[in-house]
Amino acid sequence: MNRRSFAAQRKRPERPMRVLHAVAELYPWVKTGGLGDVASALPLALAREGAELRLVLPGYSAFLDAFAGVRDAARLKTPFAAERVRLLLARLPQEGGLAYLVDHPPFYDRPGGPYHDQEGRLFADNHRRFALLGYAAAALAAGADREWRPQILHAHDWHAGLAPAYLAARPSGEEKAATLFTVHNLAYQGLFPAAIFPELQLPPAFFALDGLEFFGQVSFLKAGLFYADRLSTVSPTYAREIETPRFGAGLDGLLRARARHLTGILNGLDPEIWDPARDPNLPQNYGVEDAPAGKRAAKLALLRRFGLEERERQPLFGVVSRLITQKGMDLVLESVPHLVARGTALALLGTGDGDLEEGFRAAARAALGRVGVEIGYDEALSHRIIAGADILLMPSRFEPCGLTQLYALHYGTLPLVRRVGGLADTVVDAAPEAIARGAATGFIFDDETSDALRAAIDRAILLFRKPEARRVMMRRAMTRDFTWAQSARQYLALFRELLEERGRSAPA
Ligand code: ADP
Ligand code: GLC
Repeated sequence: MNRRSFAAQRKRPERPMRVLHAVAELYPWVKTGGLGDVASALPLALAREGAELRLVLPGYSAFLDAFAGVRDAARLKTPFAAERVRLLLARLPQEGGLAYLVDHPPFYDRPGGPYHDQEGRLFADNHRRFALLGYAAAALAAGADREWRPQILHAHDWHAGLAPAYLAARPSGEEKAATLFTVHNLAYQGLFPAAIFPELQLPPAFFALDGLEFFGQVSFLKAGLFYADRLSTVSPTYAREIETPRFGAGLDGLLRARARHLTGILNGLDPEIWDPARDPNLPQNYGVEDAPAGKRAAKLALLRRFGLEERERQPLFGVVSRLITQKGMDLVLESVPHLVARGTALALLGTGDGDLEEGFRAAARAALGRVGVEIGYDEALSHRIIAGADILLMPSRFEPCGLTQLYALHYGTLPLVRRVGGLADTVVDAAPEAIARGAATGFIFDDETSDALRAAIDRAILLFRKPEARRVMMRRAMTRDFTWAQSARQYLALFRELLEERGRSAPA
């Protein structure tokens, strides 16, 4: 059997649970961040645990070009087009999985990214583009494809937030899938002016405090949070943080009210893509045993790639990140002179906020040979930084889960992070007692200031000069288990609970 097959690999005699994921990104075709990674890895992990998985995706041309059509699954009358919209069932090339593509070229066949045009401006009709995704997902969850009816609809982020609302708006006698809504980042809410509400053709009563209204606007995120049967987010710590005003982005009241139905399930790492022993982007592959040699080769190649001085004995800090304040990249920029003064080097890859991009470019010009900056999006280079750096900087202000630090750990690169969200759940600080126990895997600091970041950088530099402690930490980091299988089991337990609660456990 194909190793990456989505076909349920049955472990139990009963019929596998049928789960439909509604999501706007899918690595490697459409990805702006961790969501795309999750959308490609989680369904596969669920399939390996015995579930039957399908996705519903916007019909971007990147998908239509890459996936082979299997059949027309449905034609939907929707509020968004005069003609019926086709749901095309297609096969994913690498993994043999199945996805429904919402085939509506006027919405999805355009230059630019999934949400922005080529100049980086949000598309003006995003409310329609993603309402259609939610509408199609709800239709499938209510049996629009006569040949396959999901028991669970798992919707991700604001882009799919209307799916539970459209499902709730359907006739109550209808058989419908149970819903889980997962928040990957509460800061992106899909907010639109109240004036667009009639276009959605949802019941007028839905535009209310007990509904999808948010301070006079339409919130796609709140629709998901309000109408889904269950809620989850991508780390246990973030799940509790977002119930507080500090992290709740105005939705903490609703999240507190639904606390019983909100869980945190950590993301995992896809070893097919992130594995130093097989990674084709590295000069030399390595495992736990030969990590020092493999990392030395990766570091040297990286120093050369960025034109940095080949001072192997000095720690090399790495960054692979969206350049935004969420990620604490302003704190990193303020700390660059300190890194240079301490004799270390920095290799950074990222895109994002124009001021930060310019700031990092200027920092590189001011410290030639010590600070290397690549503004852009580059998968291969991201792997080479994760492998070649000694320490990964990720001082996020908030972090729902974070995948980059998981990749770093697995490559023996010690993450330096703030104690928030998924970072707090996945990195163990190099406190003397944790080093002695062999548990430490990185460096954690608390205050949201560049002073605190610099103090943590100093601690990391000190530790770097203690080869034995460093070796123990690297080994521990590389052997931590953050596979998707663990997460998938937790999702499946949640789905089972949800179906039982609804009084209709998976039919035999
Ligand atoms: P977020 O989704 O908030 O950006 P995550 O850590 O969950 O944060 O995921 C980020 C993903 O995007 C990782 O796979 C990371 O390697 C990747 N990434 C971020 N910036 C870049 C970039 N400039 N080039 C290549 N990959 C990037
Ligand atoms: C979001 C979060 C990130 C998380 C990713 C995948 O982009 O910012 O922390 O890892 O989603 O869940």
